Amino acid sequence: MLKRAQEKGLAILEAVDLRSWAVDTHRTTADAPYGGGPGMVMKIEPIARALGTLRGEGTRVLLMTPQGRRFNQRMAETYSRESHLILICGHYEGVDQRVADHLVDDEVSIGDYVLTNGALAALVFTDAVVRLIPGVLGDAASAAQDSFSTGLLDHPHYTRPENFNGWRVPEVLLSGNHAAIEAWRRKRALELTRQRRPDLI
Ligand code: ADE
Repeated sequence: MLKRAQEKGLAILEAVDLRSWAVDTHRTTADAPYGGGPGMVMKIEPIARALGTLRGEGTRVLLMTPQGRRFNQRMAETYSRESHLILICGHYEGVDQRVADHLVDDEVSIGDYVLTNGALAALVFTDAVVRLIPGVLGDAASAAQDSFSTGLLDHPHYTRPENFNGWRVPEVLLSGNHAAIEAWRRKRALELTRQRRPDLI
């Protein structure tokens, strides 16, 4: 999908190596934490220099971090309307706090778990955002009825065959009665959401 979006000219994705903006001969991008403790902390200088060259008019800079605002469909919709995003992928124990305090517009977490690296989080974010850009998905309607876009989990879907091992497709979906089908889908979406994600209701 990301490839198709780029081929259609609807998105340009570029990965850059922070080391290109490292300031010392060893091209270091991380150092030991002040105050001690395990691991390494990503340095501010390479990030500031990178942003200096990559930032343009209207750029929004995001830091991928487990400390960020938890990503959801509404944020994906908001960010899909932006013209230029830079995602900073944290690594090691974290990123010098001054990056978050002074250089970024938003901090984003993709969920309550810790990855070894923000790059996977950036890919998840990118996939969710780019598919919402008009024209990227084949069927424009398909994004509108996704789980969460409606505020609920999506209803179940079925395709041929009608009967597999005695497991039948719900009769109403074969009825051709569009009002009844809509009502059934809404009911199932509500039931599923109440069962699995009552926090969404
Ligand atoms: N980096 C490590 N864990 C992360 C998470 N859950 N979300 C965003 N970036 C991360």
